[in-house]
Amino acid sequence: MASSELPPHEAERLLLAVTGRTRADLYRIDVAEADASRFRILVVQRRRGVPLQHLEETIPFGPVTLRVDRRALIPRPETEFLFDEAASTLGRAGPGSTIVDLGTGTGALALALRHRFPEARVIATDVSEEALSLAAENAERNSLDIELFAGDLFDALPEAAKGRIDLLVTNPPYVAEHEYAELPVEIRDHEPRLALVGGERGIEILERIADEVYWWLAEGGWLLCEIGETQADQALDLFSPWLFCEIRNDLAGKPRILVGRKGAKCC
Ligand SMILES: C[S@@+](CC[C@H](N)C(=O)[O-])C[C@H]1O[C@@H](n2cnc3c(N)ncnc32)[C@H](O)[C@@H]1O
Repeated sequence: MASSELPPHEAERLLLAVTGRTRADLYRIDVAEADASRFRILVVQRRRGVPLQHLEETIPFGPVTLRVDRRALIPRPETEFLFDEAASTLGRAGPGSTIVDLGTGTGALALALRHRFPEARVIATDVSEEALSLAAENAERNSLDIELFAGDLFDALPEAAKGRIDLLVTNPPYVAEHEYAELPVEIRDHEPRLALVGGERGIEILERIADEVYWWLAEGGWLLCEIGETQADQALDLFSPWLFCEIRNDLAGKPRILVGRKGAKCC
């Protein structure tokens, strides 16, 4: 299998992953035979549809570096944008502040927020034990202390956190059953279905979050929730009875973030 059968930037990224070199170095080195053979294996795997990020093994996410594998969704650029929005919306978080990441996957949002707000208590939950094991590894890799809890949405949270959450971030599953069948096979074969499908209509997990989030937020507490690009109106209908709400666009101008605030105007 020749590397020329991949787009050049992908072959180059795989070569960087096996050699540990920078792009500038790449053109000055002789590739050791062991690296060359590992590179050829990665090229074959990539041709078979293994995500590039799984072959590279780690990705940058805001201020942290995350291991990624089949145990959890590969964090997407939209979610990095959610992190930036959440961090700038909260502004500061001193000792006694509580931040929750509901459905943490690799731990991406929780770890990036803990890095940004080192004095805050950061809680991350997931219904998937596999995802939580990866999040724990990522916490250790980044030397960041977060609390991890397993369970279904808010059931995972310690009761003492009720009414005390200053920022709740979540990127819940929001793909409808019929949309899942149309996702690229690369995603369906290598990323957990549980991380993607929100139910028959896609909006079911968002509905359940909307039913409970008010009781968990502190007065003035924030919710920042990633949504599908067609879900803005439904999300506003769901959350507006409880929170002051607005929708924010991502960098591509798509409505991808629901921002809600308890007991105070949100912007
Ligand atoms: C779209 S992924 C997001 C993962 C991560 N926050 C990110 O943005 O990369 C959704 C996550 O929610 C978790 N999840 C799905 N259903 C859940 C539930 N009922 N309770 C808690 N977590 C759930 C999945 O296991 C998955 O890790």
